[in-house]
Amino acid sequence: MAELPTWREAWTAALYGPDGFYRRERPGAHFRTSVHASPLFATAMLALARRHDLTTVVDVGTGRGELLGQLDELAPGELRLVGHDVVPRPSDLPPRIEWVDRLPDRIDGLVVANEWLDDIPCDVVEVDDAGTVRLVHVDPATGEEALGEPFDEPWLNSWWPLAEPGTRAEIGAARDDDWADVVRRVGDGLAVAIDYGHTLDRRPALGSLTAYQHGREVDVIPDGSRDITAHVAVDSLIGTRTTQREALHSLGILSTRPPLDRAHADPAGYVRELNDASAAAELTARGGLGDFIWIMSPHGLDGRAPAAR
Ligand SMILES: C[S@@+](CC[C@H](N)C(=O)[O-])C[C@H]1O[C@@H](n2cnc3c(N)ncnc32)[C@H](O)[C@@H]1O
Repeated sequence: MAELPTWREAWTAALYGPDGFYRRERPGAHFRTSVHASPLFATAMLALARRHDLTTVVDVGTGRGELLGQLDELAPGELRLVGHDVVPRPSDLPPRIEWVDRLPDRIDGLVVANEWLDDIPCDVVEVDDAGTVRLVHVDPATGEEALGEPFDEPWLNSWWPLAEPGTRAEIGAARDDDWADVVRRVGDGLAVAIDYGHTLDRRPALGSLTAYQHGREVDVIPDGSRDITAHVAVDSLIGTRTTQREALHSLGILSTRPPLDRAHADPAGYVRELNDASAAAELTARGGLGDFIWIMSPHGLDGRAPAAR
């Protein structure tokens, strides 16, 4: 048991080690985020930037810069576009899009982190038969687990208290810290993290570790061949929360069908609007992308400051 890594160690090596999943693989080849679902998501980001008069967009955990490419097409030359990920700049990225290995110390603009936090590795803990919370270790080759040393950190007691034998938690402290590090860089602007998550009243009793490979959910084995993810404890993050459904509606992304008479007057326009309506329906769907949580942390906008944790 002692020789097995903890979940956080194994997960980190599997995704971000020298030959880790995200160093080799294009995220879009393995799962579909709102960015891949429809360019309407980029339309919403453009509307959000315009609403706050922000002219820079920094995309944290940008994958291969897909969102920025869409923004460049939607509003050529309007925004300074900056991507950040763990890979070098993709060779096919439009030259106007900047790429940084490190986030700037100060960012004036809109910072977006879509489905980034769920990929930040966590410690995983489980209550043993005697009621002691223990770190879970895992075999990276097989996914077999073993309970290790007792675990007692303030985050657990505050944000995911456990009691029943067999129940588990994913410790979100590293995610809170990484998000706080992004937020503290924002001078005048708005940081938005978007992810699937849970709050104190609805934690998943057995945790939410999941793996994806080539568009399918697969066994959770941290061997570097697949994405490993866990839902985000969104209430421990700095910022205010809203659902993607509410956020997109407020930005004008609506799934209203165009009136039928438009089909005769302007068939091409009608089909385009119908496509947009169905894409909007997917992005705002209950039980789907619409349930994602937007965590918003504004700085210097209308005198507002981020909510304290
Ligand atoms: C699930 S993908 C999301 C990609 C894109 N944002 C989208 O919505 O399609 C998560 C991305 O976050 C990146 N990532 C994870 N940790 C990172 C870090 N510390 N710094 C930069 N990028 C990171 C991964 O490499 C991966 O490309």
